[in-house]
Amino acid sequence: MKNLIISKQVKSTERMSLQHLIRPKTIAVIGASREETKIGHMVLKNIIDGGFPKENVFPVNPNVDNILGLKCYPSVKDIPVDVDLAVIVVPARIVPKVMKECAEKKVKAVAVISSGFKEVGNVEGEREIVRIAKEAGIKLLGPNIVGIADTPMKINASFMPYLPERGKIAFISQSGALAIGLVTWTKLKEIGLSDVVSIGNKADVNEIDLIEFFSKDPHTKAITLYMEGIEDGRKFMEVAKRVTKVKPIVMLKAGKAERTAAAIKSHTGSLAGSDIAYDIAFKQCGVIRAESFPTLFDYGLALASLPDPKGENVVILTNGGGAGVMATDACEQYGLKLMDIPSDLAGKLKKWMPEFGSTLNPVDLTGMAADRDYYGSLQTLLADERVHAIIILYCHTAITDPLRIAEALVKCKREGKYVDKPMVAAFIGGRECDTAIKHLTRYGIPAFENPERAVAALAAKYRYWRYKKRPSGAFVKVDGNKEKAKVIIERALREGRALTPSEAAEVAHLYDIPVVKKRIARSKEDALKIAEEIGYPVVLEVESPDIVHKVDVGAIRLNIQSREELEKAYDEVLSNVKKNAPKARIEGVVVRSFVKQGVEVAVGMHRDELFGPMIMFGSGGTLIELYKDVAFRIAPLTDIDIDEMMKETKVIKVLEGFRDKPKDIEAVKKVLASVNQLSLDFDEIKDIDINPLFVYEKGCIAFDVKILLRS
Ligand code: ACO
Repeated sequence: MKNLIISKQVKSTERMSLQHLIRPKTIAVIGASREETKIGHMVLKNIIDGGFPKENVFPVNPNVDNILGLKCYPSVKDIPVDVDLAVIVVPARIVPKVMKECAEKKVKAVAVISSGFKEVGNVEGEREIVRIAKEAGIKLLGPNIVGIADTPMKINASFMPYLPERGKIAFISQSGALAIGLVTWTKLKEIGLSDVVSIGNKADVNEIDLIEFFSKDPHTKAITLYMEGIEDGRKFMEVAKRVTKVKPIVMLKAGKAERTAAAIKSHTGSLAGSDIAYDIAFKQCGVIRAESFPTLFDYGLALASLPDPKGENVVILTNGGGAGVMATDACEQYGLKLMDIPSDLAGKLKKWMPEFGSTLNPVDLTGMAADRDYYGSLQTLLADERVHAIIILYCHTAITDPLRIAEALVKCKREGKYVDKPMVAAFIGGRECDTAIKHLTRYGIPAFENPERAVAALAAKYRYWRYKKRPSGAFVKVDGNKEKAKVIIERALREGRALTPSEAAEVAHLYDIPVVKKRIARSKEDALKIAEEIGYPVVLEVESPDIVHKVDVGAIRLNIQSREELEKAYDEVLSNVKKNAPKARIEGVVVRSFVKQGVEVAVGMHRDELFGPMIMFGSGGTLIELYKDVAFRIAPLTDIDIDEMMKETKVIKVLEGFRDKPKDIEAVKKVLASVNQLSLDFDEIKDIDINPLFVYEKGCIAFDVKILLRS
């Protein structure tokens, strides 16, 4: 209990200091320059111009008495009041000195705009300023940042040209230049933001701290991020899982290509994780991934402003067939379900369209539709409980003014006669449509220039809603024989090698994975004895750490039916190896039972550097890399994770009985649970490959098991 209280206190203190960073009451600008073109001057001017109270702003510069009408202090220590935030804009070499002064002054947070640290190899300099900050209990943002903008408090402590529009989306950016570009773009589109935080080298405060902060911030309804790399994947997942229960997170993660990854290293000194792992991690913790910068804010907007739907029924309302078709295609692509309009509802909608209109979905009001028709039909759709979300499309025609249509839609929404439903719009046309789009967006109907963006934004809302209501499931646990497996693994580790096939099979067996029975024979007599025990038919296979593809060198013989055949085959496989791979070390000959072929699936695990064990399921066999019919989840897995990952593959249809009898899916789930457990019990295991795993109507069996260890 005591510990709990302490940890709560620490958490609330942490939040307090981020409060000083993001919503300070007093701000010092260290390096406030007299010269208008210098960043230090711009930052000071921006804070004043943004509307933050002038009397709470304190320029610091030892070479001048007054800047922009404000008294200037030689050092932060000379400021007569407590300083919440110091924005540091002096060259990197002076930053440690001014940081020490901030520590003496007991400044609560600093934002270091200065470049010239880790990103250019000055790791020592960066460590030094972090050390000073940590010792003094100062939260440090940066270095190498554009700064912070906070619209609720009207703070533009940055060298962005202006404060963004006030809004409900927080934007965290690892790239400074991109933050400036995107913020000015949001201004143009009148997309409001609560905050913009540039995190640069994230030497102290990072995206995880900020996600935590904004998750509790009443001014923020959605958190958006532009990131190139995350350092602590497990912590990120843990926090994101918690936060997405209450607030949506949308992330644009750049750095997919290898070449881009190299550029990131030199740009911000950050590491880029493998992209598929990011995809899976985001999916598992409810983070919505954006594909481009417009979609980052499209999704942010939809998630910040739309209410939760009550169900899956989506209706498209349009005045043009083409726009409706495009939206229909996009709905299919993004997984939105178009409702079959019931006849009673169709009858009511008929009132708002000419004879040649359509009450199918898309509901086509035709090119004759005026504002009253949009108003009436929207009201009809809002009134019907079976309709759960609406996509409104409009193509600019000579007979209607887009703004009047937008006003009619907003009026209908704001009358509040009916339950609020998620609505998005696409207005296709010129400048007039742009005005209408802004009007709709301002009043809670996110609107876009084309149907695809509107559908994608609504789909992002649906993805998040489905994630939130999905049961979290129970963690799967398997009681494997950890002690025995440990002995085998440690021996291989000592010898610096992967597990041999028989060792891998033994470890799998110890974790309840049904494996083809096999034992190693050191002599022909031995092999005959083992075959008697296992039972014919059997397979003979030369065991060697130096032979990867056994078929190629004739080291394997299948379907041996009798004692006589075995005696002959034993000599054959050994002489084949001597002839075709003379240098290969031979450890014996494995005798295993010859099993009938089932549906070939693969189960595996790859330990990702950033996120940990990634468990795989998919179509098995030698063409696994070609077909790529696989799905991943990051361990620890729940039963729901297992269900969902299996459903993502095509081979699940075969297991469910596509043109044949259903196969034992439960048995495969148990194998997945065992691989999950092995990956959690043994950090030393780098990769597990069970391929093929033959699945039958009853049961399954691992034909080949490979286990690689971390070096
Ligand atoms: N305390 C306070 N002020 C001081 C001190 C001190 N101890 N010592 C000097 N100053 C004053 C200087 O006198 C000067 O004021 P003045 O022009 O009135 O004389 C002011 O601080 C600035 O110092 P300069 O030496 O002129 O430094 P300059 O302004 O040229 O550069 C800066 C400083 C902007 C921090 C630069 O070193 C830098 O890092 N620039 C890059 C910033 C950046 O791009 N950040 C990343 C953003 S992300 C992106 O990619 C966009």
